[in-house]
Amino acid sequence: MRLSRRALLASTLALAACDRPIGATAAAQTPPKGSAPALRDLAPYPFGTQLISTELDTPIIAELAARHFDQVNTGFELKMEYIVQPDGRLRFEGGDRLAAFCRANGQAIHAHTLVWYADTPDWFARLDGSRRAMEAAYDGYVREVAGRYAGRVRAWDVVNEPVTDEGSDLRDSLWSRNLGQDGHFIRAFELAHEADPNAILFTNDYNLESNPTKRRTFLNLVERMMNRGVPIGGIGTQCHVSVDLPAGALTTALRDIASLGLPVHVSEFDCSLVPDGIFRGSQREREADQIRLYEEALESYAALPARQQYGFTVWGVRDAESWLRRTDYGGDPSDRPLLFDDLGQPKPVFWAVAEALRG
Ligand code: XIL
Repeated sequence: MRLSRRALLASTLALAACDRPIGATAAAQTPPKGSAPALRDLAPYPFGTQLISTELDTPIIAELAARHFDQVNTGFELKMEYIVQPDGRLRFEGGDRLAAFCRANGQAIHAHTLVWYADTPDWFARLDGSRRAMEAAYDGYVREVAGRYAGRVRAWDVVNEPVTDEGSDLRDSLWSRNLGQDGHFIRAFELAHEADPNAILFTNDYNLESNPTKRRTFLNLVERMMNRGVPIGGIGTQCHVSVDLPAGALTTALRDIASLGLPVHVSEFDCSLVPDGIFRGSQREREADQIRLYEEALESYAALPARQQYGFTVWGVRDAESWLRRTDYGGDPSDRPLLFDDLGQPKPVFWAVAEALRG
């Protein structure tokens, strides 16, 4: 049975992420300055990318990230898998490096993520079954990490991916088992708000455009938390889409998600040309479909009320570093889901995005 990318991701996260290879170091070709408009100047809302701090060692990535994006999602170094050491000590070099880069480039930080079912370092897993000890460790972690970046991040993904893949239920996790399904969610949001009152606090999930059941379960959770006075300030929809997503699905999903009235973050947008490892149609046809989906996403996002346009984040800079290339969790090395090619050159989809942002 072919495990889904998600299942492989969840099972190999702590290993795969640590020694994440950076794509082939391309000849550091710097794009001709005037040739590609800065997307951050075209977007009427924060236009973001995802960065891992080690990518800043590749000059072309750092240059493109600074030039085109005014928000950075911390794809790895503000997760437990990076921060929590085997002896329980916390490390922040990666997160601090990204924070310094963003400060230098006038970029906001969307911090990702305090609590995730897929991220359960041994330091916490060893407490499974000891409610009091888990409460103390969990509360201490959220307070310390959110507190450390208080005033330096625009927002946090507080609880990531709370709904099952199938979509009818909330996930069973180390956190929900020990602290309660609602309990672990409420604690994390309340403690994060206490530690950083100005940060916008999100919950974030995926396949909301392709699985209406999952979207409904997710929105019911958000609504229930809002009604309980939990300080939830935004909804993240990851939008890891593939070219086989039917036209209109993104539009319907964004409209539905926005119906709760909260700011909406398209938080991890990429568009795979190889849905579940299957090549359907010619490369040209798939690239045309990819452009269509980027355009639909941006057009439906622009149709939201301005107060709900928190930001639109593309999940990476160059194809070479995309998580969708990682075979260790179900990716395809030939995939080309992003705006810049392996050498950092703008692709046809970049120009389509620039036009869509121009409105
Ligand atoms: C991925 C990152 O892109 C990788 O660099 C890391 O090795 C594993 O996690 N949904 C999420 C993100 O919320 O945290 C995942 O990011 C992709 C799926």
